[in-house]
Amino acid sequence: MNIPPINLKAQFKGVKNDIMKGIREILDDQKLILGQYCLKLEEQVAGMTGIPHAVSCANGTDALILSLMALGIGHGDEVITTPYTFFSSASSIALVGARPVFVDIQECDMNIDPGLIEKAITPNTKAIAVVHLFGKICDMKTITAIGQKHNIPIVEDMAQALGARRGNVSAGNFGDIAATSFYPTKNLGGIGEGGMVLTKRDDLGEKVRKLRVHGMGEKPYIHEMIGFNSRLDEIKAMALSVKFSKLALWNKTRLETAGYYNMHLRDVAVTLPIIEDETSHIFHHYVLRTDKRDALQAHLKENGIMTGIYYPVPLHLQPCFSYLGYAEGSFPMAEKAAKTSLAMPVFPELKKTEKDYIIKMIRSFCELQVEEQPVTQE
Ligand SMILES: Cc1ncc(COP(=O)(O)O)c(C=O)c1O
Repeated sequence: MNIPPINLKAQFKGVKNDIMKGIREILDDQKLILGQYCLKLEEQVAGMTGIPHAVSCANGTDALILSLMALGIGHGDEVITTPYTFFSSASSIALVGARPVFVDIQECDMNIDPGLIEKAITPNTKAIAVVHLFGKICDMKTITAIGQKHNIPIVEDMAQALGARRGNVSAGNFGDIAATSFYPTKNLGGIGEGGMVLTKRDDLGEKVRKLRVHGMGEKPYIHEMIGFNSRLDEIKAMALSVKFSKLALWNKTRLETAGYYNMHLRDVAVTLPIIEDETSHIFHHYVLRTDKRDALQAHLKENGIMTGIYYPVPLHLQPCFSYLGYAEGSFPMAEKAAKTSLAMPVFPELKKTEKDYIIKMIRSFCELQVEEQPVTQE
């Protein structure tokens, strides 16, 4: 068998006709940027999440930068975040001139450890930027209570968690402002780059709409603030809008696959992701953990299964962040996660035979390890 980590070609087959039709229509029409399809996509996401301001933009990194700019964060400010995430969760903080202040993750789900946040707060802390890693919503009850107590706004990086819910509350609703990404491999992935800012706050929504078009308001060429160009193309918005109708089903299928893996791997010597309920994890990645990660990855590759490592180096150890003064050992949980995590294919088009084969190959690896254990003498 040959199983890729994600199969975008298979996904495209199911939406190709509608997307090709839309592309022709848009090209005939020549309304190419921020038109009816951007509006439609914004309405769809606002409807699903219940968040009134959904502002499309060029990519997820810009969505984070726009969110921080809207909160007025800049030079001299500190933003608390996790060291175990995709780079731009923290680069966005540095790019607006602020200082990322890392807090370690919790072992159970690799999300930021709420118990460590308060200790990291200083008079310069201007936001807590959480990341719903791999699609699982953070412990927002505790985190929002901390934010309220200290009067610090919360930013949600929900690039991996669009459609996740805790009870009836969708990701993006917990904090003051949220950013998501439509990078092609995301649960809702586009035919190019794309992103969106979500907020319940009118003041922030209005500001983001201006910031993404050079700080212009209603009046053309009057720049109320120094914004930048972060608009979404119509063709990309249209494709996302077509795919949007499948998102709930895709998320559900990912969760079912995760449940299937967990059920069939529960007795093997790897740490499985936790599934707390039916909605709060949408399994952008299904990540298991083992000390023998590299050997497991090699074994799966030899047998035609491609896996991913998210993320091999935690952000506090990235060369570009050396100026922050962290060192090996600063965040033991994040460092351990970086050494032990391995993401299995969990894309919605995965066939049952492929899932069974993946399970079989993980099991055969673990059995081999047991056989190879030296026999201890009594
Ligand atoms: C957690 C997280 N934050 C931010 C981003 C940035 O999104 P983009 O690649 O669209 O800039 C990504 C995706 O790549 C991500 O996974």
